[in-house]
Amino acid sequence: MTGNPLAGKLDVIAYTPYSYIYHAVRDTSTVLKCHEMCDGKQHGVRELATARTLEHEAAIYRKLRNHPRITSCFGLEEVAPHVNALSLERSPIGSVRHYIVKHSGVNQTPPMSVRLRLAMHFTEGMAYLHANGIMWSDASVRNAMLFSGEDGLLEVKLCDFGAAILPEGSGGSEFEPCQSYEMQYQLPLRGRADWDDIQRLNQELFALGCAIYELTEEDAAS
Ligand SMILES: Nc1ncnc2c1ncn2[C@@H]1O[C@H](COP(=O)(O)OP(=O)(O)O)[C@@H](O)[C@H]1O
Ligand SMILES: [Mg+2]
Repeated sequence: MTGNPLAGKLDVIAYTPYSYIYHAVRDTSTVLKCHEMCDGKQHGVRELATARTLEHEAAIYRKLRNHPRITSCFGLEEVAPHVNALSLERSPIGSVRHYIVKHSGVNQTPPMSVRLRLAMHFTEGMAYLHANGIMWSDASVRNAMLFSGEDGLLEVKLCDFGAAILPEGSGGSEFEPCQSYEMQYQLPLRGRADWDDIQRLNQELFALGCAIYELTEEDAAS
């Protein structure tokens, strides 16, 4: 039987149809996001994403610079010859959705004061994106990470800008934007032929409302 080739070297935190999120076992402060799983050698490939997707996401993080509601990004890092990964500050707690689902249920549900704080942070993050002319296009509490602030209270930071749209003429990458909201965050078409008939900001605001609902309505997670 072949052992796990990553054992003792890399810890995989998550994988999606688009990417692997992992970190070197000894590095607990950052994670790498990549469409390939590499530690010098390749261990897996996500076909739906490409190097361009990551370059686009890196460009969005550069435009956003440092902000308390945005996960810190340390740029692209070569993890194997000609393979770059996005280096990000690591959330020790995980996504906001993970937290809400984990704590939903009798006697465990976070108090409304905590839920409102998370909803406020999420909204502040989206307001900052929009103030920079960026449409997230994948707004969701699954794409928001939790951190413990200096006061010991939870802090929300947004992440996953692979589908985000830069303002026109901003000199960013020429990435073709796509509709990436998860199903329950999508503004109903209501007779319109397709997504392009809906103002992007309307889609964003609908998704924001869905996130606030998921955070503040106790039954939403179940
Ligand atoms: N900075 C991070 N710290 C800890 N976990 C993370 C971080 N970034 C992503 N993850 C985990 O990986 C999952 C997928 O990351 P994401 O950037 O949303 O990838 P994708 O673009 O493939 O959806 C997240 O839902 C979360 O569970
Ligand atoms: Mg995601």
